[in-house]
Amino acid sequence: MTAPAAITGKHALVTGGGSGVGRAIALVLAGAGIDVTICGRRDAELAKVAGESDRIFGIAADVTDEVSMASLYQTAEAARGPFDIVVANAGMAGSTPAHKTTVADWQRTLDVNLTGAFLTVKPALTGMAARKSGRIVFIASTAGLKGYAYVAPYVAAKHGVVGLMRALAAETAKSGVTVNAVCPGFVETDMLEESIQRIVEKTGRSAGEARASLASTNPQGRFIQPQEVAAAVLWLCGDAAASITGQAISISGGETW
Ligand SMILES: NC(=O)c1ccc[n+]([C@@H]2O[C@H](COP(=O)([O-])OP(=O)(O)OC[C@H]3O[C@@H](n4cnc5c(N)ncnc54)[C@H](OP(=O)(O)O)[C@@H]3O)[C@@H](O)[C@H]2O)c1
Repeated sequence: MTAPAAITGKHALVTGGGSGVGRAIALVLAGAGIDVTICGRRDAELAKVAGESDRIFGIAADVTDEVSMASLYQTAEAARGPFDIVVANAGMAGSTPAHKTTVADWQRTLDVNLTGAFLTVKPALTGMAARKSGRIVFIASTAGLKGYAYVAPYVAAKHGVVGLMRALAAETAKSGVTVNAVCPGFVETDMLEESIQRIVEKTGRSAGEARASLASTNPQGRFIQPQEVAAAVLWLCGDAAASITGQAISISGGETW
């Protein structure tokens, strides 16, 4: 993909950059000439992705821990300057009928997907407003726009992420900062493979049947590729998207709108 000229020389944070969608976003941003700090809890995964580009730098951090995120900001911004772009991508999903969901599972899912997203962007807000520029992108989900059975905490958390995005877009609108969410349907990553495995274990269906059933939620009858999500993020980070703020952009083959 050709880099929009004005995007080069910036510094981005991508949480969950050690795998799946986050890795694809990190590689696309790095390919556009942006220095990218990636974080996650597993050092080895971060090192693998950092090994794929001279512009990608891994720092282990837990998005649910405010102190850990503050330390990441301090280290990364001291090394490569303030974050111009923050992509809150880290997430997790479980699957249980709502009446069997424990409060611990509920809380953990909200902690990672919703509170983690807040703790990822919060330290960037003051600096972006002062510099009158910045791009914040949340990787939400179609689960932030519609309901799915057996994933109540995830659906609630992702709806919360879309709400957080809208609140921040309203708050930053006059400051040159844009805040948007990208909402993919099922994307071919480890998270999808875990969902397929859970269906196999819980229903006795074959992996092929489980895959087909999940792919059929997309009107195009296929899974989204991580690079498709990354392309939308790159566009949102460019000058051409300066008027796009407060939007939840569905990348789902028309599953939601
Ligand atoms: N795959 C899909 O079908 C799909 C669809 C819609 C939306 N999404 C969203 O896309 C995002 C990326 O998911 P993915 O599909 O790429 O799955 P993935 O490969 O499982 O990636 C999740 C990433 O989040 C990181 N992470 C999880 N908990 C964390 C924590 N507490 N602190 C820091 N990092 C943490 C993980 O790294 P560590 O384990 O090393 O911490 C991992 O790199 C998620 O927000 C997900 O909800 C995915």
